[in-house]
Amino acid sequence: MPGAKLFVLHDVTKSFGNLVAIEGVVFEVDRGEIVGLVGDNGAGKSTLVKVMNGFYSPDRGVMRFDGRPVRFNSPRDARSVGIETVYQDLALIPALSIWRNFFLGRELKKGRAPFMHLAKAEMRNITMVNLREMGLTRLRSPDEPVDILSGGERQALAIARARHFGGSLLVLDEPTSALSVKETEKVSEAVRIARDGGLGVVIIDHNIGHVHRICDRIVIMESGRVLNTVRRDEVTAQRVADMVAGRHAL
Ligand SMILES: Nc1ncnc2c1ncn2[C@@H]1O[C@H](COP(=O)(O)OP(=O)(O)OP(=O)(O)O)[C@@H](O)[C@H]1O
Ligand SMILES: [Mg+2]
Repeated sequence: MPGAKLFVLHDVTKSFGNLVAIEGVVFEVDRGEIVGLVGDNGAGKSTLVKVMNGFYSPDRGVMRFDGRPVRFNSPRDARSVGIETVYQDLALIPALSIWRNFFLGRELKKGRAPFMHLAKAEMRNITMVNLREMGLTRLRSPDEPVDILSGGERQALAIARARHFGGSLLVLDEPTSALSVKETEKVSEAVRIARDGGLGVVIIDHNIGHVHRICDRIVIMESGRVLNTVRRDEVTAQRVADMVAGRHAL
């Protein structure tokens, strides 16, 4: 459906036994938009993104991706429509080379069976081009092991990979929580480049200042519900911090 919002969730609820983790959540993210999810511990942020990426099926509610109703029974279902998740402990293999990691499970092959072989030169090349586009310009060779990359560079690699393989929505749950300020900046840059390339991005981050710097919209959650949604240019970071802390009336 042309013109439809990229991903829309309506009245989504998910419980674990008696515990209602998220309730009646309405949420949307569009192409070319970064939406930040903030809220206190246990507010339901991770549960919400796990509903978005197919890790959980909601108990109630509807989701539309690209205008079509979707129902995910697994992360694979979500990935097949273009929802890519970057976890903090991302699925990279440190001992393998950078290009191997970039193509992990999606290797390019040449020739015909039974004489197929890996298109290594091409994969090396594509990896370098994609990482340069993400701002990793100091990388010497795609043959180096992922081990040599910093935390921020690894996150950027995962984002570049998601973008290259046709992802249209990137979901990041605290991608920078273990990173230094400088490394966090690398991840932010990769997220901006992905957004400017037309992807939608949903990002959870405890650092309100960081969220306020990079997000176009901020969704504040409290006790499993959406408390408020604000555009970044209409609030200060302090105001967002106040709402997260429960000082709503200020
Ligand atoms: N698999 C689960 N089984 C039972 N309860 C769960 C499960 N996952 C989350 N919860 C509960 O649901 C509520 C929301 O948790 P969630 O992880 O979504 O919060 P969060 O906003 O991501 O918190 P944090 O900022 O600490 O990561 C919490 O009360 C949590 O204990
Ligand atoms: Mg969480």
